[in-house]
This record gives sequence, C-alpha cells and structure tokens, in this order.
Amino acid sequence: MANAAEFQDRLLSLGLARVSEAAALASARLIGRGDEKAADQAAVNAMRDQLNLLDIAGVVVIGEGERDEAPMLYIGEEVGTGQGPAVDIALDPLEGTTLTAKDMPNALTVIAMAPRGTLLHAPDVYMEKLAIGPGYKPGTVTMAMSPSERVSALAAAKGVSTENITVCVLERPRHEEMIREIRSTGASIRLITDGDVAGVMHCAEPQVTGIDMYMGSGGAPEGVLAAAALKCMGGQFFGKLLFRNDDEKARAKKAGITNFDRVYTRDDLVRGDVIFAATGVTDGSLLAGIKREPGYLTAETILMRSKTGSVRRMTYRNPVK
Ligand code: FBP
Repeated sequence: MANAAEFQDRLLSLGLARVSEAAALASARLIGRGDEKAADQAAVNAMRDQLNLLDIAGVVVIGEGERDEAPMLYIGEEVGTGQGPAVDIALDPLEGTTLTAKDMPNALTVIAMAPRGTLLHAPDVYMEKLAIGPGYKPGTVTMAMSPSERVSALAAAKGVSTENITVCVLERPRHEEMIREIRSTGASIRLITDGDVAGVMHCAEPQVTGIDMYMGSGGAPEGVLAAAALKCMGGQFFGKLLFRNDDEKARAKKAGITNFDRVYTRDDLVRGDVIFAATGVTDGSLLAGIKREPGYLTAETILMRSKTGSVRRMTYRNPVK
C-alpha cells in the first residue's frame, strides 16, 4: 500500500519531467500548423504512454474531461503501473492549443502529482482567479477587493506607484470592464490570448517576466494547476468557481463541491506536497519552446516540488531519427 515515504521517492519527480517532455516533443511537429485538435491529441497520446510507465497508482483528477467526452486521460482514469504510491494527477497535455497551432508564445505541457485525495477535483467550469508573487503578507490582495483596490494595495505593499504595477489578463470581452478599471489606476496590462497557467506562473518571477499580478476568469482545472505551480514557486493564489447554469452546478456537485460561493486559497486547492513539471512548447518568458536543430529536438522543462521549494530547469536534447 502506498505511503508518504514512497511519494517522497525523488526519482518520481524525474519521471514526471519525462512525462511532460514527451508531451511537448510530440506536439512539436504541429507547432504553427493551424490544427489545434491534432496538436492536443499528439500531446495526450504521448503523455498517457509515458505516465503509464511510472510506478504509481495514479488517478487523473484534473484531465481532458469527463469519461464520456474524453477517451484518454479522462477524470477518474487510473494511470501508472499500479505499483507505487497512491497519487492524484492533474494534467493539461497542451495548455494553449491555439497558441501552439498559431505558434504564439507560452504554450506549455503541464502535469502535477500529489498524494491521493489532496488536489481539488475542480469541475470543468470557469474560475475567477487572483494571483501575486512571493514576499507579500497574507491579505495584501483579496477577492473581496475591486480590481483597482488590488492594484493600489499591491503597489503600496511593493513600495511603488500604481504606474509601476503590471497585471496579466486574458483578452476576453468578459474582461473589458475590469481592464478599463485596472488601466484607470495607471497600471499597465499584459494581455494574453490564452494560457492562464503560464499567466499565473509569471507572477512568481516578476523580475524575469515583468508581471506583478494575475486577474480574471479562466478554466477551473487550469486554476488547480496554477495553484500547484505557485505552491512550488511561492506566491498567493485565490480562486472562486463561476457557474453559468444548473448543468455546471451539477458537474460541481458530482465532483463533491457543496459550497458554490467558496473562495479557495492556493492551499485549499492543493492541500499537501506537490510535484509539478511543465515543458515549453512555444517560446515564452518562463520557458523556451521546442527547438529544432538538424538531428535533434531540444525541450526545456521546469520541475518543482512544494515541500522543498526546489525549482530545477532542465534541457533535454532528443535525437530525431
Ligand atoms: P486550451 O489549451 O484548452 O485551448 O485552453 C487555453 C485557455 O486559455 C486556458 O489557459 C484558460 O484557462 C481557458 O482557455 C480560458 O477559457 P476561454 O477561452 O473560454 O476564455
């Protein structure tokens, strides 16, 4: 039977990095080809094959969708050899399918592994998200604050004027009012067309990315992955599920959620130790994308663990026959 000591097996993290690399390498030949579905499918197939080689008794809790809509890596699918620790798996084989199809920045493959029962089973609904990087006191920004209050509070905590704050936001019509309000404070906005896991991760390294805060709604499953990343890199994350209809509420109920108004903190979404790996598919501010050289493909992966706070960046050169 699995135990915590087995989860601490350090080779498991390297195994997870290989899973992430395999998905990114598989989608590489579809970068810029205009075919989102094919790129996603290639990543899904490769991720599943590699995941099933790991000595874990894994269950997908954040995956490609419900069993009836996703033939592979569906929620509840058992993965791994079954010989090893009982773990929850959260994954997105290609975070930014459109970014990949259009060869735009910051497409990633993402996977997180945590002891069984410690990741929120987030339904496939939207989540209102708020994130800042490490080094700020609890309560510096909250979901209860308006967007402009958050900018002012963060600027005060950072000891700068609001003009020196940059907020990352998904460019969507639903965010137009929020964008106007943020701009009215003098803060600048980095608009992204997709990929809010990367958007949130950017807050953890503001000196590299220039991003101080992430705000706005996106997929709830991506929210759990982003919380896992920030738990390793440092930073605060808040998420509130958003429901557009009764069907979405039913999905949440099925996933065991009873309080529809709850604001989840990073540590509510990821309740224990977590290992997180992401590999760049297209070039981004945090990770280089897949590079093609004659005879090789090169992939960059970030591999992190919350318990130790370790952050590794690894470059993998994969011979292509
Ligand atoms: P895909 O990789 O599945 O295309 O998702 C990309 C993404 O931008 C996520 O990062 C984000 O959470 C979500 O889509 C936003 O959803 P919507 O496009 O409906 O606003």
